[in-house]
Amino acid sequence: MIRTKNICVSYTEYEKTDELDRDDLELVIAARESALNAYAPYSNFKVGAAVRLEKGTIVRGANVENAAFPSGICAERNALSNSITNYPDEKPVAIAIASFAGNEFTEDLPSPCGSCRQVIAEEEVRTGNKIRIILSGKDKTHILESISHLLPMQFNRNNLKIILP
Ligand code: THU
Repeated sequence: MIRTKNICVSYTEYEKTDELDRDDLELVIAARESALNAYAPYSNFKVGAAVRLEKGTIVRGANVENAAFPSGICAERNALSNSITNYPDEKPVAIAIASFAGNEFTEDLPSPCGSCRQVIAEEEVRTGNKIRIILSGKDKTHILESISHLLPMQFNRNNLKIILP
């Protein structure tokens, strides 16, 4: 028997930033501020990310590029590395991402690269908690309730069949 199956991913669209609730708006503002601190002289594409931890702390990250291009790092992974390093026992509940190019926040919503999706997925599995993903454009925002909406059929520790403490 051969069957085609479908996977459904979903997100909530907000047409204007001011429709967001207070916490989400605060996180988006932190992501936008972080984008302005990015070091992106090669791409001129500045990305900011802000992670909200379960007790409310916000941890920021931005992309940091390098003349040796592969040595650069994305905003999302920088923010998550910061939160894991500084608050290893606090679970992230949300991450907001914003990008800035050509002197304004981009109309197009940021779309985390494959490596960042994989790292966000690892953090969901590590903590056992879903992380809301807030993709912030100049006007529109998309909110996804888990990385599984950006990375369905993910590879994670369950595929390795090993038992971790
Ligand atoms: N970038 C991010 O920081 N996050 C993403 O999700 C996509 C891409 C950065 C990497 C590089 O510094 C620049 O954007 C252009 O690719």
